[in-house]
Amino acid sequence: MLTARFVVSNTDYQKCPIPDKPEIAFLGRSNVGKSSLINSLTNQKNLAKTSTKPGKTQLINHFIINEQWYLVDLPGYGWAKVSKTQKRKWQKMIQEYLLYRPNLLCVGLLIDSRLPPQAIDLELMTWMATSEIPFVIIFTKADKQSKNKTSLAIATYLKTIAEHWEELPRHFITSAVEKTGKEELFLFIEEINKSFEKP
Ligand code: GTP
Ligand code: MG
Repeated sequence: MLTARFVVSNTDYQKCPIPDKPEIAFLGRSNVGKSSLINSLTNQKNLAKTSTKPGKTQLINHFIINEQWYLVDLPGYGWAKVSKTQKRKWQKMIQEYLLYRPNLLCVGLLIDSRLPPQAIDLELMTWMATSEIPFVIIFTKADKQSKNKTSLAIATYLKTIAEHWEELPRHFITSAVEKTGKEELFLFIEEINKSFEKP
């Protein structure tokens, strides 16, 4: 049995829950499926708020899984319809959270499995790598096209990354609709959670 409940929403990483448990955060463009994947992983329909329109999640949302670890839903980026001021505010909020949250073990960077590599995501990967923020890639919406197309798109994606780095980040292929990749992702999280030491 898995339990999951909402804990708190914040704009400031310093107000997030006491960092005494391991934490994993989902990051990615607006509409890529971060909130949907949280619902899929936790077997709940509306634990994280989702929308067909981008820009639904606007805060740092903490959920606690099995009362043991935190899963965090973050606001998306790369959404055109926001003011520059708003964009800057979000960027500061997310970057500070990623840089200074002491119990953050790993970021799951969500990428739409149908799209060719986007500069905005690649830049973020470079920033995380240079900031020494561990991350894995989670390809989403695999149900939206054939397995062959997904495999091909992912191979292209990884090839692009390989042009910049010697070591490829770990990757997962998921669908929030068909619940693909769920077990693999959970096993991975359980594994890294073992490495957690209270800050
Ligand atoms: P923001 O909160 O704006 O950053 O977006 P988000 O990344 O949280 O996206 P959200 O989970 O709200 O999903 C956006 C849209 O994509 C919704 O209409 C979802 O139903 C749809 N969606 C998400 N994941 C999947 C998936 O695996 N398969 C399919 N077919 N649709 C998906
Ligand atoms: Mg969301």
